[in-house]
Amino acid sequence: MVQKHQDDGGGKKITLKINDNEYSMVVEPHWTLREVIHDKLGLTGTKEMCDKGACGSCTVIMDGRPILSCMTLAIECEGREIETVENLEVVGNPLVEAYADNHAMQCGYCTPGFVMTAKALLDRNPDPAVEQIKDALEGNICRCGTYPAHIDAVLDAAKRLEGGKK
Ligand code: FES
Ligand code: FES
Repeated sequence: MVQKHQDDGGGKKITLKINDNEYSMVVEPHWTLREVIHDKLGLTGTKEMCDKGACGSCTVIMDGRPILSCMTLAIECEGREIETVENLEVVGNPLVEAYADNHAMQCGYCTPGFVMTAKALLDRNPDPAVEQIKDALEGNICRCGTYPAHIDAVLDAAKRLEGGKK
């Protein structure tokens, strides 16, 4: 499905592949991927906290790796496979349900970034050890201090996905 997005500015026309949709749009060279995803396309699950690459709240998955969308220029993302938190089902997704059942959030602002980082980890390592989870999540900051619950949530998700030991 190709969706058109209009913008009045100059720049270059590109097509972004996000969550199995293609978005053709004109982007300015200085626009970050976060701006395009959140501000232009309305995929508001991708958050901005620091806008300097220091908090992880803007994390999306690109070609299987978690990346900071606030530090990535949209114009460089043509042809890449991008996944945002909107691609995860709210009901029935083992990772989302593990996060909810382990109360791995308070205000929830940082949660999409953590979840996408955790998803990228589980996609490449379905049975991560605690230290591997800590390493993967070390770039994600939570102002509410929910850190221990993320470890439990990812271990629980691995079991639900049958990657973890029962
Ligand atoms: S908003 Fe991108 S790392 Fe903080
Ligand atoms: S749950 Fe509030 S910033 Fe993390």
